[in-house]
This record gives sequence, structure tokens and C-alpha cells, in this order.
Amino acid sequence: MNYPRANRMNPDLIKHNIMGPNPAKLLEELLNKFPLEPGQTVMDLGCGQGVTSIMLVKEYGLKVFAVDLWISASENWQRFRKEGLTREQIVPIHEDAHQLPFADEFFDAVVSIDSYHYFGLDKAYLGKHLLPLVKPGGYLLLVVPGFHHDVHADIPNELLLTWSAEDLDTIHDADYWRNVISATEGVEIFAIEELESNENCWEDWLATDNEYAVMDRAPMNAGAGKYMNFVAIALKKK
Ligand SMILES: C[S@@+](CC[C@H](N)C(=O)[O-])C[C@H]1O[C@@H](n2cnc3c(N)ncnc32)[C@H](O)[C@@H]1O
Repeated sequence: MNYPRANRMNPDLIKHNIMGPNPAKLLEELLNKFPLEPGQTVMDLGCGQGVTSIMLVKEYGLKVFAVDLWISASENWQRFRKEGLTREQIVPIHEDAHQLPFADEFFDAVVSIDSYHYFGLDKAYLGKHLLPLVKPGGYLLLVVPGFHHDVHADIPNELLLTWSAEDLDTIHDADYWRNVISATEGVEIFAIEELESNENCWEDWLATDNEYAVMDRAPMNAGAGKYMNFVAIALKKK
């Protein structure tokens, strides 16, 4: 697949700030399938160093609240300003996904790329902490790293070269996620399905000199990628 929008992003920004397989490409495929309207107010949850947040403003014309736990708001704000963004377009917030400081029904949509698996596997999370913040009829568009089929009962050796079984605990297939999401009332499931984007996103990540990318090279070069994919979760608040 082609990624005209991701490819328009500043290559240096991508190279130095992605925190996993190219999230700009994952976001582009997600929003091709489940489009948002320019001008809508969106939370980018677990935005990391803000690559997808910048893209949501520049490429999709959205107003973005960029929330992350490991990366400070000041650091992200510096990056956003360097990219020419204003406080009318984007607001960086340093907070835990369990303590989101927003009004109920504030957001038209929530987007989250490669981070929801850190907190959203808890079946209570969605209904308790996130869904109330989305307006009725609003969307939750999530991408999580996944497996074609869960392998936790018998993990292939390629996956265990630098990752531990514990590291893989948060990675699951689409059926597993359907079961997690189905526990929450008040949400319509549009789709929980594998994305096409995978290898291409991994290539971009493994080519960076991020220390985690360097660690990921051994399993991926040994063929771990054949078990893995990205899973899109597209939900509408009733
Ligand atoms: C693999 S990084 C992905 C970052 C970014 N979305 C990207 O793709 O470049 C995972 C992100 O999830 C965030 N995260 C993990 N647990 C979180 C929590 N409880 N609340 C908010 N963010 C969290 C981390 O701060 C981290 O930046």
C-alpha cells in the first residue's frame, strides 16, 4: 500500500521520534478505513514523542490533545513548535491513561497507535476511563501490535531471542481483543481486524538507531515477523 501522507512527514522527525514500527503509516491505513472530519477534536492517547499527533494536525486538519505518560509535555511542546504548530492546533499533556483530565463527552474521537495494549487489556479500562470522554456517536480508533493467532501457549523460538514471554504478554490476536472490547457496554464495534501495514512499518523502525529497535532486530531478522501483525480496533460510542 502507498502512504502519501506519512511520506509527506518530516523524515528526520520520523527517524528520531518514532517509538516502534512506523506509527505514521499505521495511522494512515487506519484513517483511510475509518476517516475523521477536519476540525474535529481528537485525543491521541499514548502519543509518545508526538509523531502521530503532528500528523493528525498537519495531514488531517484535526485539533489534537496529545497525551503520554513516558514523554513530558514540555518535550513534546518543543517538538510541536519546531514543526510550526500552535496551541490552537495541539495541546501536549503528560498524564496516565487512567487519570485523563478531560470533561465527559469532550472528544469527537480518540486515536491511539501502538500504546492501548499497555493499559486497555484490562476489561474495565474502556468503560471506566476512556469511553465517558467521547461524545455519543464519537469514534475510538486504535491500533495495537498483535499476532495472527495467539502463540502464548507455545512461543516460537524466534520470538524469544531478545523478548521474554512477559514482554509478549500484551500482544494478542484480533479474537482476543474482540473478547476484551465486548466486555464494555455502550460501544458499537465497527471492526477489529488485521491491518495490511506491517513489514514496511517494521523496516522503518529497525533502520533507526533507537536502542529498542536495535534489540528488535534479532527476532525480526530471524523471522518473528511472520507471527505478527497490527490489529485495528474501530469503535463508535452509542
Ligand atoms: C511504543 S510507545 C508508542 C508511542 C507512539 N504512539 C508511537 O507509535 O511512536 C507506547 C507509548 O504508550 C505510552 N503509555 C504506556 N502506558 C501508558 C499509560 N498508562 N498512560 C498513558 N500512556 C501510556 C507510553 O508513554 C509510550 O509513549
